[in-house]
Amino acid sequence: MREKHLTQSAGSVDAASERSSFADAVGYYLSLQPRQLPSRYFYDALGSALFEAICRLPWYPVTRAETRLPECHARAILSHLDPLSTVIELGSGSGGKLGLLIALGRRSPNPLTVHLVDVSPTALAAASDALSRLEATTVVTHALRYEEGMAQIASRPRTSCRNVVLFLGSNIGNFDRPGAAAFLRAIGSSMAEGDGLLVGTDLVKSERDLLLAYDDPLGVTAAFNRNLLVRINRELDGDFDLDAFAHRALWNGAESRVEMHLVCTRPQQVTIPASGLDFTMPDGESIWTESSYKYRPEGVAAMLEHAGFLVVAQWIDGGFALTLASRSA
Ligand code: TRP
Repeated sequence: MREKHLTQSAGSVDAASERSSFADAVGYYLSLQPRQLPSRYFYDALGSALFEAICRLPWYPVTRAETRLPECHARAILSHLDPLSTVIELGSGSGGKLGLLIALGRRSPNPLTVHLVDVSPTALAAASDALSRLEATTVVTHALRYEEGMAQIASRPRTSCRNVVLFLGSNIGNFDRPGAAAFLRAIGSSMAEGDGLLVGTDLVKSERDLLLAYDDPLGVTAAFNRNLLVRINRELDGDFDLDAFAHRALWNGAESRVEMHLVCTRPQQVTIPASGLDFTMPDGESIWTESSYKYRPEGVAAMLEHAGFLVVAQWIDGGFALTLASRSA
């Protein structure tokens, strides 16, 4: 049964204020040493499409592992969350993994409300279209950052049934360690005791495999990374010489993270009027665009317990872990 009318859009930021916060963030992060760019701006329409392509690359195993896990364990995962009324997915992307979890794991057709929080309106539209086909499921989209989406959802009346928050795609890995701890604590503060949190984390593996996942032979990840400069040129009237930036992925073993950089290969003067920037970039200087921290299974459990959760179960598939925790008292 298709219940299109059950899709609602609860919140999004208007285009003018989105552009001005993008301009401010670019101005701030590009002035830091080393120069940086915040990774949430990867996901414009083209960036979201390139990211979907990354998820299909044979060298990027995260999405496949995270699809196999609900395929095998959906029933077990949801049995810990009974009675469930609300699923919140932060950074839902195309919503495919959540769709599988619900379709395969749900035992009773109790009405379910699904809240999708993602900065990409294109990804939200695709995900809500797919998920609203599920039986007795209301989909509410929030085109907002994680914290803002969580706050908006927490301000709504809730039932006495359980809520579960999904944070998949190794997205927790894009925070540094203190940032991840603070983020988990913030999420926990808008959850009730007994609510669930399902976190997907990529695990430490061989350097070769980790680097291939973030620097693929087809150059899709390089295009995804460079698209951030394309977006700055288009939306903020920047003048980055796009051909003069190379994609670099590095494994930083001491910090247990893959770092993504854009390295300037030809000296240039960069002007971004909307951000009040005018600076020179010498050959070899880089812009750090993203980090992807890799975990060990026991490290994930320790991080969650430290942030006020009790670990309920952990499923491991190859190089990937799915950990279910519940909000403690
Ligand atoms: N959350 C994803 C990860 O860390 C995001 C991601 C995948 C990504 N590939 C990327 C971010 C390449 C920047 C560049 O695995």
